[in-house]
Amino acid sequence: MRLLSQTLCLCLALALSQAAPSHYDFMMADHHGAHDHPLHLDDDAHHGAKPDRCEGIEFDAITPDEKGNVFFFKGDHLWKGYSGPAELSNAFFKELDEHQHLGHVDAAFRMHYTDDPTHHDHIFFFLDDHVFSYYNHTLEEGFPKKIQEVFPGIPDHLDAAVECPKGECIVDSVIFFKGNKVYHYDIATKAVKEKEWSHMPNCTSAYRWLERHYCFHGHNFTRFHPVTGSVVGMYPKDARDFFMKCPGRGHGHGGSDSERCKDVKLDAITSDDKGKTYAFSGKVYMRLDTHRDGWHGFSIASAWKEVESDVDAVFSYDQKMYLIKGDQVYIYKSAAHYTLIEGYPKPLKEELGIEGPVNAAFVCGDQHTVQIIKGPKLLDIDLSATPRRVVKESPLPFPKIDASMCGPTGLKVYAGSDYYQFESPALLTSGKIRPQPHKIPQEMLGCGH
Ligand SMILES: *[C@@H]1O[C@H](CO)[C@@H](O)[C@H](O)[C@H]1NC(C)=O
Ligand SMILES: *[C@@H]1O[C@H](CO)[C@@H](O)[C@H](O)[C@H]1NC(C)=O
Ligand SMILES: *[C@@H]1O[C@H](CO)[C@@H](O)[C@H](O)[C@H]1NC(C)=O
Repeated sequence: MRLLSQTLCLCLALALSQAAPSHYDFMMADHHGAHDHPLHLDDDAHHGAKPDRCEGIEFDAITPDEKGNVFFFKGDHLWKGYSGPAELSNAFFKELDEHQHLGHVDAAFRMHYTDDPTHHDHIFFFLDDHVFSYYNHTLEEGFPKKIQEVFPGIPDHLDAAVECPKGECIVDSVIFFKGNKVYHYDIATKAVKEKEWSHMPNCTSAYRWLERHYCFHGHNFTRFHPVTGSVVGMYPKDARDFFMKCPGRGHGHGGSDSERCKDVKLDAITSDDKGKTYAFSGKVYMRLDTHRDGWHGFSIASAWKEVESDVDAVFSYDQKMYLIKGDQVYIYKSAAHYTLIEGYPKPLKEELGIEGPVNAAFVCGDQHTVQIIKGPKLLDIDLSATPRRVVKESPLPFPKIDASMCGPTGLKVYAGSDYYQFESPALLTSGKIRPQPHKIPQEMLGCGH
């Protein structure tokens, strides 16, 4: 319980460090500084025209757009991103204003439906009995339409809506909320399942963020399981501490950009067969392929609880993730969540025929060989043979390597706050070419922008 709430605290606090979704702080987990940027109030606030979300607002709707910008709606205003003042909604979504009479949206979500690109990534807004579909901030032709026409079986005057892609829900779905009723809408078949989650508060807006689902109610929010509605951890929490930057609020909000971005060092990095890329550093991991939602760190314990921290090396093979720490290897089955395979961790010696500790590991393409970097050596281990053993050993003319990853663009090796790109592992071991270093904070983590 405690761990889970800490994790949430950590990752949401990290989100606050960014105004644009390109900003990240790997070191944030260690900081517990106070805010040093008072909220900027602009002129309109003096006329009382603009709502202030730091006063504790109940949002009408929350949704990201196709570029990953998140919008919070209240009345005829919206906020773009996690910091900054309210702006008029019609500056961004002009037609909502022309059609609406009540002066607010009831619900909104960004459709996830890759089977049908004509709807995928569109934002749907719900106003009374009408629905508006936007893409690229342009109203789609033929809209607004009646909700019944587009989402048959879904009631008018909704309270909230949120997308639920396959993997998180059983099929690509939308979850609608009205009062204490919840409707799971199957996008492909249009089948509707009505439920009552009586343990949950009535949501006035809902938001999916980094594969997690949040119900907002009052100025609080509650994370819920999108299928069962179960709530795990200490909820509700105050949205002002997590989803927006408010003076004197929030946890672990670190100092300046330079402070946040210095001394970045990766422990390990891998990309799985679905293209999900994970970087590990200390107690924190980060997804690098979802940067549209912003850069965010999570505690390693939240996804690989047996490992917890300080991963030495990681590689992905045959839909499994191998995490190496000291002289132990942890093998996780990869699905929507990672589950440790029974019998693990096992000694590295027993599993791969080598002694720990190691520095880095990678598998290139569909190969059945893992290449392990251990000090000044590169060890090739045949993963299709039993028992597994080193089949090739090459000297490594390269100073200490922290992490490595092989992908379609070649091999990347990470050393300190730099990384180097090689066309192939052979070029790394040949030592003939020393490519230009790239800066990890600037080129991977959006620092210094
Ligand atoms: C998005 O809209 C802008 C104008 O609002 C237009 O210039 C641009 O071409 C559009 N992009 C796409 C991909 O439709
Ligand atoms: C939740 O919604 C139901 C109607 O569906 C209503 O009866 C109930 O009072 C609401 N609960 C709260 C706490 O507002
Ligand atoms: C928000 O949650 C806190 C508990 O975390 C609770 O004491 C408070 O009453 C809630 N406020 C609203 C408006 O729901």
